[in-house]
Amino acid sequence: MIPAVNTTRRTARVLIACSLALGALATLPLGGCRGDRTDKPPRRFFPDMDYQPKLKAQSETQFFEDGMSQRPLVDGVVPFSDHSTLPAPGDDSEWAQMRLMDRANMLRADETYYFGLVAGASMDNPSWVARMPVEVDQELIERGAERFNIFCGMCHGYNGMGNDSGTVGRLMNVRPINLLDAKYRDRNGEFGSDGYIYHVIREGLWSPDGTNRMPAYGYAVNEHDAWAIVAYIRVLQSAFDAEGNSNFGGPAALPTQNNGGEG
Ligand code: HEC
Repeated sequence: MIPAVNTTRRTARVLIACSLALGALATLPLGGCRGDRTDKPPRRFFPDMDYQPKLKAQSETQFFEDGMSQRPLVDGVVPFSDHSTLPAPGDDSEWAQMRLMDRANMLRADETYYFGLVAGASMDNPSWVARMPVEVDQELIERGAERFNIFCGMCHGYNGMGNDSGTVGRLMNVRPINLLDAKYRDRNGEFGSDGYIYHVIREGLWSPDGTNRMPAYGYAVNEHDAWAIVAYIRVLQSAFDAEGNSNFGGPAALPTQNNGGEG
């Protein structure tokens, strides 16, 4: 019996001690927190976080003569890569190819694929490639049909014939052109090369005085999709003449509505 009584008392004492300790802990926050008003110097547990040698973006500084803390890029600087390393030359593993593709995308280091230009040409004096630099297969054409129907059809018509065929296009003062016209078929002409049509999709059409004639779709249609759209325009052109007659002899069945890219 005696040991049992002792155990009970000890348990009670331990409990009291614990409650006292908890009570004391609970009063600790009252001792002061960051943000409380006090005349005493604040306690800084991580002073190197409070005082960092740094400049804040968009803020002023007296360190630089122009007063700007955000510095302009040094002349001639080019993005290098998202990765800190590049594959060794000659490494043709899938991993290496992905890295190299990432880098090419970042540098946009291929004037034909990224800008529709003949190799070596520049935007200052553009010369457009007659034929697209991507392989054309059924997948590309289907993608092009889908993107054309989303981004071009409402103005140029799902059949590409422009003028009154697009629901939005027919409301415009200057009507969208007929993409089936001879001038947009002639790969060696001023308006019909793959590169030029690609360029118009990505950059839009502007008058010399700076007014916009057709919006630029580069923000929504990436390089691959723009080439896909060009491929689909070629499909429309080979199936129909400029008046929309079938080139295959049978009756024409021009696409007249968004068919969801089913072809
Ligand atoms: C908002 C309506 C609109 C949309 C959407 C649109 N276009 Fe146009 N596009 C026009 C108009 C309007 C013109 C004619 C402008 C002019 O002649 O001043 C035009 C002209 C063109 C030309 C002729 C360029 C030239 O120099 O003759 C091409 C090619 C063309 N569009 C392709 C496309 C393609 C491909 C798409 C889809 C990515 C597209 N457009 C989307 C309105 C549109």
